Amino acid sequence: MSTGATRSEIEHATEILRSGGLVAFPTETVYGLGASADIDHAVHSIFEVKRRPQSHPVIVHTHDVSTAQQYAAEWNAHAVTLAAQFWPGPLTLVVPRNPNRASVAAGGLATIGLRIPDHPVALDLLRSLGSGVAAPSANRFGSVSPTTAEHVWDDLGDDVELILDGGPCRSGVESTIVECIDEPKILRLGGISDGEIAEVLGLDGVAIGGTTSAPGTLAKHYSPRARVLVLEHADHIDRLAEGGDVRVIGMHEDVTMSPHVILAAQTVEEYAHGLYAALRSADDEGAGLILAVLPKGEGLARTVRDRLQRAAAP
Ligand code: TXA
Ligand code: MG
Repeated sequence: MSTGATRSEIEHATEILRSGGLVAFPTETVYGLGASADIDHAVHSIFEVKRRPQSHPVIVHTHDVSTAQQYAAEWNAHAVTLAAQFWPGPLTLVVPRNPNRASVAAGGLATIGLRIPDHPVALDLLRSLGSGVAAPSANRFGSVSPTTAEHVWDDLGDDVELILDGGPCRSGVESTIVECIDEPKILRLGGISDGEIAEVLGLDGVAIGGTTSAPGTLAKHYSPRARVLVLEHADHIDRLAEGGDVRVIGMHEDVTMSPHVILAAQTVEEYAHGLYAALRSADDEGAGLILAVLPKGEGLARTVRDRLQRAAAP
C-alpha cells in the first residue's frame, strides 16, 4: 500500500474536482469525501452520496492559511494563534463565513469550518487545486469513519469517481473543532486535547460543547451495526463475553487476558488509531456485541471515550 500519490493521480483528482466530481482522499485523521467548495452542485452531491441531511455543514480544507482566510469574514486573535500552532493538523476552526463563499458547504450557516490537514496526499491535492475542498468523512451518514482506502471503498464503492490511497490514517479520530467567535469553544473533541488548546491560548480552560447542528455531536453517531457496550473497567469482562458472538477492545492491560480481543492498545494513540478499524472488523465478522473498555486519563483518552460513548448510544 502506498502512502503517496503519483503526479498523474493528483492531476487526475484535480481535474475531477474542477469538473464538479467527487474524490476521496486521505488525511491524518480519517478519509474525506471531497468536492470543490466553490461548485454548489458538487457539494450537493456529497450529501447525496453520504445520504446526509443537506443542512449539515461540511469542513472546507485548504493547503494554506491565506486560502482558508478567503472563506472567512473574520479571523480573530484566537484563530491566528491556533492556526499558527496546529496547522497543518487535526484542528478545524469555525469562524464567521465570507458571505460570498461556500454557502452550500456551510449548510447555509453564517459560519464556516476550515482545516489544513497534515497528510502529503491531501496537501498535494489541495495545492494543485489551489482552492477549498469541502469534505466530510468518507462514510455513509451515521456509520463509522473510514481510516483506510478499503473502508471508503466498502462504504461508497462506485459512488465516488476516485479514491486516493494514502495508507492507514495516522491519528484515526476526527479533528478537534474549535469555534473562534468571541470566546473560543470546543464543538467536538478530537486529535488535539482541550488542555493543549487552552495552553496555547493562554487560558485556564476552554468550554466544551455548545450549540451546533454538527452531526458529530449527535448522541448516536460513529456506530457499527453490532451493539456496543462500554465498560469503565475490565473486572467482569469474561462473564459478559460468555455465550454470544462477542469482540473485545481496550487498553492492553485491561483486555489482554480476555478471549475475543481484537484491539489491545499499548498506548491511547494506538487505541485511537485502531478504534474505527476494530469496530468495522467486528461488523465484518458478524459480531453481535462489542465490549469496549474505556481508556483512562485526559487528552486523547477523552476523545476515545467520547467516540465510544456515541457508538454505544441507543
Ligand atoms: O478530521 C476531520 O475533521 C475529518 C477530515 C476529513 O477532515 N472530517 C470530518 O468531517 O470529520 P465530518 O463532516 O464528518 O464532520 C465535520 C463536523 C460536523 O460535526 C459538522 O457539523 C461540523 O464539523 N461543522 C462543519 N462546519 C461547521 C460550522 N460552520 N459550524 C459548526 N460545526 C461545523
Ligand atoms: Mg463524519
